[in-house]
Amino acid sequence: MTQAIKKAVLPVAGLGTRFLPATKANPKEMLPIVDKPLVQYAVEEAVAAGITELIFVTGRNKWSIPDHFDKAYELEAELSKHNKAKLLDLVQNILPPEVSCIYIRQAEPLGLGHAVLCAKPVVGVQPFAVLLADDLIAGRERGCLTQMVDLYNRYNCGVLAVEPVPKKETSRYGIVEIQTIEPRVGKIHSIVEKPAPEVAPSNLGVVGRYILPPDIMVILENTRQGAGGEIQLTDAIAKLLTKRTVLSLEFEGKRYDCGSKLGYLQATVEYALEHPELRQDFERYLHGLMAERLSPAQRKAG
Ligand code: UTP
Repeated sequence: MTQAIKKAVLPVAGLGTRFLPATKANPKEMLPIVDKPLVQYAVEEAVAAGITELIFVTGRNKWSIPDHFDKAYELEAELSKHNKAKLLDLVQNILPPEVSCIYIRQAEPLGLGHAVLCAKPVVGVQPFAVLLADDLIAGRERGCLTQMVDLYNRYNCGVLAVEPVPKKETSRYGIVEIQTIEPRVGKIHSIVEKPAPEVAPSNLGVVGRYILPPDIMVILENTRQGAGGEIQLTDAIAKLLTKRTVLSLEFEGKRYDCGSKLGYLQATVEYALEHPELRQDFERYLHGLMAERLSPAQRKAG
């Protein structure tokens, strides 16, 4: 029988060097997109997919994440004193009551594979999800993880979210070679971490959502440091493929690589354009800005 996916690991212990100095004293996953930190979007996606246990793997500067999901007595008392019911509701209901949070420390940032391995004592013997909050995914009708859980429930095996990436960018992703078994779904034959475009087996890049069987933990324990001196999740998945079926899912939705400055800015602009309080004013502002920025010649040509 298929075991329900109830646990999700959220590794939030990376150094976030591409965002320094903003990430000097704060985890990258706490950077806001408009008015919510990245990690909250990932948590909302996980909860919508039926997750009830969130396992955060934290590093240095770890406090702001537990604080964000915890009760904030003073703030709540102040908001209630000033009758700010809407804001009070916003801070009190970040997590539904049935969802619990567990925090595990990754003592050293030894890579994503190592961060996932740190969650082993809590994950136990059930399949589980992994979400990287710096990949922000706006699902179309259903969130990305919900689409993956549906696929897992049908096939009872691991699932990796993938998307076509420009050929010249394969060296930024884990790339999979698949055999298509239904629209958007493939059986993964091989996976390689960050291959150069000329040797990449396809243009399907793995993004930050995984459903993995618990045996990945044993494999991770025996995985040596790979590219960049880190324990790579991709290397462990490559070994998993020799004994288990893992599927790829080209999810429906749009992913923003918020680990990069450009992706982060794109997400900020597009989420602001959808934000009920902001969208009209922000759209007007953008139009004005573009008109101001276009040279008179461009304006004439346009
Ligand atoms: P990245 O590869 O984006 O690394 O991690 P990073 O350190 O966060 O950022 P840069 O490249 O230095 O700017 C992908 C995900 O894995 C987590 C990160 O927090 C992020 O969610 N991670 C990475 C860990 O939790 N521990 C690690 O040792 C490495």
